[in-house]
Amino acid sequence: MVRIIGVGSYAPETYITNEDFEKFMDTSDEWITERSGIKKRHISPPEITTSEIAYRASLRALDMAGISAEDLDLILVATSSPDSLTPSTACILSAKLGVKHKPCFDISAACPGFIYGVEIARGLLKTGDYKYILVVGVESGTKFIDWNDRSTAVLFGDAGGACILTQDETDRGILSTFISGDGYLAELLKIEVGTAYPVGSWGVRMKGREVFRNAVVQMGEAAIKALEKANLKPEEIDWLIPHQANLRIIEATRERLGLPREKVYVNIDEYGNTSAASIPVALEEMLDKGLLKDGNVVLCVSFGAGFTWGSLLMKW
Ligand code: ACO
Repeated sequence: MVRIIGVGSYAPETYITNEDFEKFMDTSDEWITERSGIKKRHISPPEITTSEIAYRASLRALDMAGISAEDLDLILVATSSPDSLTPSTACILSAKLGVKHKPCFDISAACPGFIYGVEIARGLLKTGDYKYILVVGVESGTKFIDWNDRSTAVLFGDAGGACILTQDETDRGILSTFISGDGYLAELLKIEVGTAYPVGSWGVRMKGREVFRNAVVQMGEAAIKALEKANLKPEEIDWLIPHQANLRIIEATRERLGLPREKVYVNIDEYGNTSAASIPVALEEMLDKGLLKDGNVVLCVSFGAGFTWGSLLMKW
């Protein structure tokens, strides 16, 4: 089966708490905690670029997988906050890793970008032309934040998570995946950088309530789709790892699946919304804490700008 054999993550040391926001913005710890579940978020200083976060996470993933960077056949980076429009963050990462003459490209699929990346990697590994693929979900998105917009500034954080995928003969690995999207709702959540916008006017723009409503529906749908494809029932899951955008969305997804709280991994209080990074970051944390055990059935599910959504069901 195609499976993840190495996981690594990195979050910048600098962070901002809700109390820090209270000092320069009309907001409160109470509002942020109640509406989102977030208590703090990591913020990358200017010299810590998206590729640098990806690099630090990737080294850890390579270490766990027990392979070297030269063994990689493909590098995929899912991000909404690339170092530059071109070259891709994946190319910059490949040079940092010392990888030469290997394909590398970015995936722009917002929060479920990591799941999109795994779906691509899985398909390519099945061709037999690739042995090891690095998939990174990474954001330094706070660099695009409009610090005058309290409705978005308090929500996002920076981090990266990396996974090495390969195909082997074990019965552990990816059981099913599901990805989808709806570009008709693109206006509801966007980072305004690109040819449609004047230079220098960037910022994250979000119609929070509408995004929330869509996220609740599609996170639940995506979770069910992956389970149906693998012919499993929600009660057969050991862990639900939801994208960490809002504690209330996580709760709604948990309720839709009828799962007890102890089966749902939550770290939004510590990181905020790290978009494409949230799921691989959670995976490494769970491994570090000894929560994720061999043979566990794990369902990852995500929703984000685009809109895009997706799910990933694995036997760990
Ligand atoms: N502090 C205090 N008050 C605030 C703040 C703040 N930081 N931000 C907004 N408010 C105010 C608003 O101005 C509004 O005031 P008003 O009623 O006087 O107009 C009030 O709080 C309510 O605002 P809402 O936006 O309706 O609040 P809501 O309960 O919807 O919570 C939130 C906002 C947390 C953003 C929520 O809508 C949400 O989580 N949405 C989904 C986000 C998401 O899932 N994103 C996923 C994808 S992210 C990606 O793809 C990168």
